[in-house]
Amino acid sequence: MQDIIRELDAKRAQARLGGGQARIEAQHGRGKLTARERIDLLLDPGSFEEWDMFVEHRCTHFGMEENRVPSDGVVTGHGTINGRLVFVFSQDFTVFGGSLSMAHAEKICKVMDQAMKLGAPIIGLNDSGGARIQEGVDSLAGYAEVFQRNVNASGVVPQISMIMGPCAGGAVYSPAITDFIFMVEDSSNMFVTGPEVVKTVTHEVVTAEELGGALTHTGTSGVADRSFPNDVEALLSLRRFMNFLPANNREAPPVRPTADPFDREEFSLDTLIPDNPNKPYDMKELIEKVVDEHDFFEIAPRFAGNLITGFGRIEGRTVGFVANQPMVLAGCLDIDSARKGARFVRFCDAFNIPIVTFVDVPGFMPGVAQEYGGIIKHGAKLLYAYAEATVPKITVITRKAYGGAYVVMASKHLRGDLNYAWPSAEIAVMGPKGAVEIIFRKDLDDPIKIAERTEEYRSTFANPFVAGARGYIDDVIMPHGTRRRLCKGLAMLRSKDLKNPWRKHGNIPL
Ligand code: HXC
Repeated sequence: MQDIIRELDAKRAQARLGGGQARIEAQHGRGKLTARERIDLLLDPGSFEEWDMFVEHRCTHFGMEENRVPSDGVVTGHGTINGRLVFVFSQDFTVFGGSLSMAHAEKICKVMDQAMKLGAPIIGLNDSGGARIQEGVDSLAGYAEVFQRNVNASGVVPQISMIMGPCAGGAVYSPAITDFIFMVEDSSNMFVTGPEVVKTVTHEVVTAEELGGALTHTGTSGVADRSFPNDVEALLSLRRFMNFLPANNREAPPVRPTADPFDREEFSLDTLIPDNPNKPYDMKELIEKVVDEHDFFEIAPRFAGNLITGFGRIEGRTVGFVANQPMVLAGCLDIDSARKGARFVRFCDAFNIPIVTFVDVPGFMPGVAQEYGGIIKHGAKLLYAYAEATVPKITVITRKAYGGAYVVMASKHLRGDLNYAWPSAEIAVMGPKGAVEIIFRKDLDDPIKIAERTEEYRSTFANPFVAGARGYIDDVIMPHGTRRRLCKGLAMLRSKDLKNPWRKHGNIPL
């Protein structure tokens, strides 16, 4: 018995040492934590229960039979974040570069399967050189097993990827299917083909950081939702983020006690909208002033800034916020913002998170690039997502709500439950100037007439009352009372039960 206990201790010690002290130091030297250190920071102290510490690869090619490390490059198990169960896998770059063997994949699949049975989120901490080259097709098969589980879990339990090192080749497609991708700045990258292949095929010279670093994916491609300056900040932010999410699609999001009064009035909001309708203002100020304790977790802040998305709480309950941002592209909807908004709305709908939409949108972005890029199909994604969403939907029009963009942004016509307007709202087919230039084209060389017509159009349509008279707007509310109206509305809608017609699945314009 003593012998086996000694052997157990030795195996555990060996597993904990991963690829050895020298590689751990190299990992630290790059400013990165080890797989186990990361788990310790992410989970509540002492909550981690490790599985499959003794798993080893079964490869016998290229001398691999002499080279086995317990855990095989990935640490897996479960623990809690603020007392709530999560499953986690953390790739260990010190062991074969965190590369994925069949055994490594089986470990990931085991935690994913269990997370699905129990209805708990899955968090992947990715730091891997990709397919274990010595294993060949077995490692590709392992990836495929993970991908299939990612798809099965989509919309059932939240799946979060934190990219903390390399993530290349087809390996990127597991994070791509997950709900949110976060990255660590300067130490992580994601690409389908690396700089060398790019140089050979397209003769473009680019560094790994330029091609697939955190700045690229949070700003240019929109593949990643947020980045953090280092491992510690990334993992602590992930803990904060997980507090917003429900454990699965059958559960309501968690409720957090709040001391913020439901009827807190924000008189500064009464002057948020500038007198000049063409002057921008910061829509984020509105979101931050209505959520509990001003606590807002923005998603994709660096991508498609013309549409803000993120999570906050109202009376302790998670709410997804979607809002046009007049500070960027005047708040127009374009391809990127439509894609960003649609994915966010669908996440909220899948996980029972009510959606609050703040509208100040002059329309869809005009331009050849937008049309050639497929704004028709991409814009339709946002329309589709809002229209299919059955969670509570509250909309507040702060200023412009023009044309098709008015309809798309959670209008009454797309089953908005409560549609409010501030007194400054203008709900019309288009802005007064554009409208007059079309319907009074013959008067264009008479500036006085045009000015009169513009004023006439403005006083007729640039207000919330025409839509209000038809019931498209439920009420015109004072800006300073917005939080109170949201609190009352969301409380009223808590028992909402709406179902879409049965179907295998819809056919969103992908
Ligand atoms: C086996 C690997 C490995 C891999 C790295 N290592 N990647 N072992 N399979 N894919 C090992 C190295 O041999 C080395 O072992 C250790 O990990 C650290 O690697 P280094 O190269 O020393 O580290 P670094 O300089 O930081 O470079 C990291 C790297 C580079 C950029 C990830 O290692 C690299 O380019 N690896 C290959 C990446 C790749 O092409 N993967 C396949 C992608 S295709 P020692 O013993 O020296 O410490 C793919 C298909 C998936 O993944 C398809 C899914 C459907």
